[in-house]
Amino acid sequence: MFGLSYLDISAGLGLCATALLTFNFLLGMMLSTGYKRSTYWQKIPGGLKKINIDDLHNQTAYVALVFVMLHPLFLILDHGNKFSVVDVFFPLHAPTQNYIVLLGSLSMYALIIVIITTQKVIKQKISFRTWKNIHLLSYGTALLFIFHGLLMDPLLKNRPTDWLDAEKFLSEACLLVLLSAGIIRYKYYLKNKIANKRTLQ
Ligand code: HEM
Repeated sequence: MFGLSYLDISAGLGLCATALLTFNFLLGMMLSTGYKRSTYWQKIPGGLKKINIDDLHNQTAYVALVFVMLHPLFLILDHGNKFSVVDVFFPLHAPTQNYIVLLGSLSMYALIIVIITTQKVIKQKISFRTWKNIHLLSYGTALLFIFHGLLMDPLLKNRPTDWLDAEKFLSEACLLVLLSAGIIRYKYYLKNKIANKRTLQ
């Protein structure tokens, strides 16, 4: 299709999943930091304020999951490599870079667990703390899929990463965005912790 191999499509889907998951994480961080009270949010145009961030956060997670599942599917369809269905779910014997592939598989599992535990029926059965702790797994998941994307050789020839490559640049940019947002989120947590201590004294 348009001169693209299944391997190219697989790489494209992996990159889309990375960008979408990064966006999804930013939305999650907005939700957990009371974004509506922020001066930045109050300054944005009225039309954008109408967006339901909660819904958008859920929807982007579902779309990202579809990309995450299609990414290894196209890898299996590609006849130029020896990846099997088993290698997707249990990559320790994958034909190349098995430990780096494992980071991708673990991210896929973590994403599935977070989505399942957020379904109303399950969420009602577990405590808020348990749900929140499972959700917090996502910070680790982000690091796993970013390093997976950065270190995988798109040609499956076990070549070292070309850090200046445009595709790798996307993962680098996402890493920078996630680290900056993570620092802001941690500062918010510390600020709240100090404020809570003061009200208890
Ligand atoms: C959250 C889940 C995942 C994300 C975000 C993700 C993302 C990525 C990215 C960004 C690349 C690099 C593409 C490039 O540089 O052109 C990549 C490559 C690769 N990924 Fe994943 N991946 C995920 C899960 C998986 C899983 C479950 C497998 C299981 C087989 C896998 C196997 C591979 C392989 C073999 C490559 C190199 C070939 C290619 O580019 O398609 N990934 N992935």
